[in-house]
Amino acid sequence: MAVVAVVGGQWGDEGKGKIIDLLAAKAQVVVRAQGGDNAGHTVVNPHGKFALHLVPAGIFNPQTLCVIGAGVALNPQILLEEMDALHARGVDTSNLIISERTHLVMPYHLLLDQAEEQARGAAKIGTTGRGIGPAYSDKVGRVGLRTGDLLEPRIFAERLEDAVERKNRFLVSMYGADSIDCSPIFEQYTAIAERLRPHIGDPGPQLERALVAGQTVLIEGAHGTLLDLDYGTFPYVTTSSPTVAGLLLGAGIAPRYLTTGLGVFKAYQTRVGAGPMPTELHDEVGEAIRQAGQEFGTTTGRPRRCGWFDAVAGRYSARINGFDSLAVTRLDILDAQPTLKICTAYELDGRRIEEFPSRTEVLARCVPIYEELEGWRTSTSGANSWSGLPPAARRYVERIGALLDVPVGIVGVGEGREQSIMMEQSAIASQRLAAS
Ligand code: GDP
Ligand code: IMO
Ligand code: MG
Repeated sequence: MAVVAVVGGQWGDEGKGKIIDLLAAKAQVVVRAQGGDNAGHTVVNPHGKFALHLVPAGIFNPQTLCVIGAGVALNPQILLEEMDALHARGVDTSNLIISERTHLVMPYHLLLDQAEEQARGAAKIGTTGRGIGPAYSDKVGRVGLRTGDLLEPRIFAERLEDAVERKNRFLVSMYGADSIDCSPIFEQYTAIAERLRPHIGDPGPQLERALVAGQTVLIEGAHGTLLDLDYGTFPYVTTSSPTVAGLLLGAGIAPRYLTTGLGVFKAYQTRVGAGPMPTELHDEVGEAIRQAGQEFGTTTGRPRRCGWFDAVAGRYSARINGFDSLAVTRLDILDAQPTLKICTAYELDGRRIEEFPSRTEVLARCVPIYEELEGWRTSTSGANSWSGLPPAARRYVERIGALLDVPVGIVGVGEGREQSIMMEQSAIASQRLAAS
């Protein structure tokens, strides 16, 4: 049995979708645990190339039960569009269950997300504009509507009316926006509800049966640890908890079932949106990585900020999550680099520090201290084994594992499902020795 939580170790877009698609071939259940359609998970497999926002990336294995867990903020319109797009390409979604506990993203959440961003002015977070923050605010404020409410139109109408009245007060008086009308939202959401009805329920009993039977369950994280609401670079964060603990909670899986926390890290660093990023490169190297990696957001198309691998942030992420194993993705994007840098410490106000600061304004003053490693300057995208990688590439990956003190179990050398090197136990053991 294996219950594996697949978590972004950095600021998102580490390649979690690809790793879930890869591992789902052997999984009976995949649960998406948190976040909403602010996530964009790319999968490239024999069915084609897909950008998933809400549907779990295990959907391509017809044997896998896919669950949207209670911790997700669900825009049902986006989910339907995604399901329709999958059907149009021959992918079956009948194995999808949506927890009736998921909170709904409503049209007014999108309006509020935009209005709040505008009001922040220069301090804007650079959200994806998908209404996720306002939807989670309503959940915490105990006024949100849930997917289960859709099942009874009378109850849904009452709760919607209440919510719209409250939001109108906000939109009109605080943001000077136009007030919104209940009825078109009611029409839209009840029509969607009829189509989603067969998928809505309580996945708890089925999940429990799978866990007790020792089946393999993957928990799909969205975003990344440095975007965590509590442990990320607040306030430049998302509004859910993309950590191992947050995933267990969002999926409704008791911690005692977890066997592996798998941290997914890019071989370098990227960030979309605002907030400090000590290793960000504003030079031609950063631009070369962005072009080689086509680092543009899956959800918003924004250029991603690129930089060298930050092992200070990585160690912090490994500690918060207690990772058992790492997937290092996109190694191939560094193929052309003659020299590589890894940030091993920060200089803060003339002092060397090795801990990731809790306060954003302190992090913003940190200057990376680098160690340099030799590049391999040859293509790795065809490598299909650890020993098939150039020695310098192996040293680079090993160094990441050693600095984070977590063995690397998977190395990504391309976007395709098969472009993944699964490490043999012997290679993992040798990393442990090298680190000790
Ligand atoms: P996610 O949000 O963590 O699922 O990541 P995204 O899908 O937003 O971004 C990761 C991008 O990297 C996608 O375009 C993937 O297809 C791609 N990808 C994942 N792993 C690898 C890899 O090892 N090499 C290359 N070249 N691309 C990869
Ligand atoms: P995946 O799952 C990268 C970032 C946004 C913004 C901040 C808050 O594809 O890795 P939000 O809309 O969540 O309120 O925006 O969080 N962000 C992501 N960045 N990948 C993601 O998801 C992200 N989800 C949110 O860019 O800076
Ligand atoms: Mg993404």
